[in-house]
Amino acid sequence: MLSLIDPFARAISYLRVSVTDRCDFRCTYCMSEHMTFLPKADLLSLEELDRLCSRFIGMGVSKLRITGGEPLVRKGILTFFEAMSRHLQTGALKELTLTTNGSQLAKFAQPLADLGVRRVNVSLDTLDAAKFAQITRWGRLPQVLDGIAAARAAGLRVKINAVALKGFNEDELFSLVDWCAREGHDLTFIEVMPMGEDMGDGLRLDQYWPLKDLRARLADRLTLTDLTERSGGPARYVRIGETGQKVGFITPLTHNFCESCNRVRLTCTGQLYMCLGQEDMADLRAPLRASSDDASVDEAIRAAIARKPKGHDFDYSRQKVAGQMTRHMSHTGG
Ligand code: GTP
Ligand code: 5AD
Ligand code: SF4
Repeated sequence: MLSLIDPFARAISYLRVSVTDRCDFRCTYCMSEHMTFLPKADLLSLEELDRLCSRFIGMGVSKLRITGGEPLVRKGILTFFEAMSRHLQTGALKELTLTTNGSQLAKFAQPLADLGVRRVNVSLDTLDAAKFAQITRWGRLPQVLDGIAAARAAGLRVKINAVALKGFNEDELFSLVDWCAREGHDLTFIEVMPMGEDMGDGLRLDQYWPLKDLRARLADRLTLTDLTERSGGPARYVRIGETGQKVGFITPLTHNFCESCNRVRLTCTGQLYMCLGQEDMADLRAPLRASSDDASVDEAIRAAIARKPKGHDFDYSRQKVAGQMTRHMSHTGG
């Protein structure tokens, strides 16, 4: 079957699937404290998710990342991972992975590893228990650290994702780097993006810590060498000479990486977002539910890819926020 190529000649090989909009945390940059979640009937069933993802894999998607909300709070999620692992066995899928807050990893790490998951990305912005409770509102740090330890014990590689937040984790830059070096985790910093309607301009701009500044601060004390290797996502990596560890930077604001975008996002209700930073989406649930024949689903997927935009319009450069998205990050899974 023909692979998926967008209007800018980018091959779409990476599908991010949000399996639930729910989460057991309420990170301040991601959700409001009182979220209204979707009624269960709106969600794609695990069977429908399987059917849709399998169509994408048939069209050349070789990397599948399961996200949320928190993917591991979705009931029956292991059944879905088990279903997807059959595509690992055929070789159609090169990587099956997830992005998680780590809260449920103590329970799920081993079964996930048994199903062919090799690495996990865990969101962790601070190693200070009080600050962790503040930023996640509902989270507890020890539970996440236990989850990360369980992941390593199960043989999974761990990449820590830290959102760079001015005045929040600036003072932990070196402690986060050191901790990851000691524990053997990769580490990626992310620039905070303007998502969610209740996060006013003031808050966002105040918190914005450009990664070129963060990188310069790292370079004051450590030797950084640019790496050409990629993990299939937007991060650009450096090797730290003193420790040998890899540190990544995801810079949607200071360096737009959209020109090499290889991914689209499926929400838990079957909407396909062709860009994290644009409103346009395609409803795949209707064709999916209309018929058991996959032809109209395939057609809807191709039509959606044919209008994938060039990139996002996030911009903070004029002392105000431009390109803001009203939907929350939990809707599309980051
Ligand atoms: P690997 O490279 O496979 O480790 O994954 P990844 O970096 O694609 O996935 P991860 O879930 O760790 O992504 C980290 C964060 O980067 C996401 O939650 C988003 O905040 C951001 N990100 C990922 N892809 C995009 C993208 O296409 N556009 C923008 N603006 N941000 C993205
Ligand atoms: N800007 C940047 N990253 C965000 N994430 C959630 N909201 C934002 C935002 N507004 C990140 C989380 C997690 C991933 C799923 O998305 O920290 O690593
Ligand atoms: Fe949950 Fe992740 Fe959003 Fe935090 S960033 S509220 S852990 S989905």
